[in-house]
This record gives sequence, C-alpha cells and structure tokens, in this order.
Amino acid sequence: MQKQLPIVRLRNLIIEDTDDRFKWCMDEEVTKHLNMPDKYPPFTIEETRIWIEMCINKTNGYEQKAILTEDGKHIGWIDLKNIDSLNKHAELGITIGDKNYWGKGYGIAAMNEMLKFGFQEVGLNKIWLRVEVDNEKAISSYKRPGYVEEGILRQDRLRKGTYVDRLRMSILKEEFLVEKIIR
Ligand SMILES: CC(C)(COP(=O)(O)OP(=O)(O)OC[C@H]1O[C@@H](n2cnc3c(N)ncnc32)[C@H](O)[C@@H]1OP(=O)(O)O)[C@@H](O)C(=O)NCCC(=O)NCCS
Repeated sequence: MQKQLPIVRLRNLIIEDTDDRFKWCMDEEVTKHLNMPDKYPPFTIEETRIWIEMCINKTNGYEQKAILTEDGKHIGWIDLKNIDSLNKHAELGITIGDKNYWGKGYGIAAMNEMLKFGFQEVGLNKIWLRVEVDNEKAISSYKRPGYVEEGILRQDRLRKGTYVDRLRMSILKEEFLVEKIIR
C-alpha cells in the first residue's frame, strides 16, 4: 500500500536561512553528490550569505526555495535553474539538508510541490535533472513522482579527482498532470 506523504511547504528564501544552509554545506555526507567544489570548506559563511541574497534578488537565474515541514521547520532547499524559456524546460536540484528527515518522504513531497510550481506558475513543459549514477537513494526517489531516464551523461562530474557518470532524468507536464490530477 502507498505510504502517506508528509506535508511540506516551499517558501522564498530569506537571509536568515544562511546559517542552516552553511551548516548543511559543511556536512560531507549531505554534499557528496552535489555539484560543489572539492575543497573543504567549499565556501565561507559570507559567500553563502551572498549566494542566498542572489537567490532572493533573483540575480543568478535560480528559482530557489526553502523546504519547510508542516510545522515550519526548515529542512532543505530545492531549485529550478538553466531555465530555457524558449523550449520551456529547466533543471531541478534538491537537498534535504537535515539528515533527520531523510527517507521519510520529504524529498518526494518537496519535489511534487516544485513540479507543481514549475509546470503551473513558471509555465514549463519539462523538468529535468542530473543525478550521479551511484546516488541510488536519489534515483529511486525521483522515480516516485514519475521521472524517467533520458540517458547517461558520461564522465559528467569531476568528484574528488574521479570522473563520475550522471544519469539525466525528466518528467513532462502531461505526465505529472495525469499522475497528480492537478486542476
Ligand atoms: C536525495 C534526497 C533529496 C531524497 O530525499 P529523501 O527525503 O531522503 O527521500 P524520500 O524519503 O522522499 O524518498 C526516498 C525513500 O523514502 C521512501 N519513503 C519513506 N517514507 C515515505 C513516505 N511517507 N511516502 C513515500 N515514500 C516514503 C520512499 O519510498 C523511498 O524509498 P526507496 O529508496 O526504498 O525507494 C535526500 O536524501 C538528499 O537531500 N540527499 C543529499 C543530497 C542529494 O543527494 N541530492 C540529490 C542530488 S541529485
């Protein structure tokens, strides 16, 4: 039987998100599969604050949102980037930074909210992502809302001196709408 997904809320970033974001970015278990520099720490708290500010002011091309639990706890972030308005597609990225919330359906629930936002409010037709082939946990959670595999991007990420293949996956608006019956 299908498990009930937890309720999550997405909200615009605020500058006070900086401390949580910095803490999560210092956790190498969280960042292992993220496209971040190999050096440690990957960036300073000041650089993190500047990045959050760019997201708030939308000067970096990202539609980035904070993920909150039903009772308002900040647990991660999710974004759309590489927004191609001509062809109506964008790349999605997601991180549940608070590891206490891993494996409980929060990633899938946040993904559903972002897909709704992307298809209904941004007007996209396809939302795609790249995931490292050894990030099995993420791949299996992406299949739940209906992402399908598009192909392997060979040696797509240089991770700690080794090139890693990434899987490209996508979901179309028509597939998501059929699944979720959004009105
Ligand atoms: C990848 C990531 C976003 C997934 O989020 P998550 O909240 O841990 O994943 P979910 O709980 O939503 O889904 C994963 C599993 O939980 C299961 N699950 C647990 N509770 C559930 C519930 N209430 N409802 C539905 N599924 C549930 C899912 O079935 C799935 O199980 P499976 O792996 O056995 O198929 C998160 O682990 C993360 O941020 N990792 C670090 C950063 C990262 O790798 N980001 C992705 C880069 S591409």
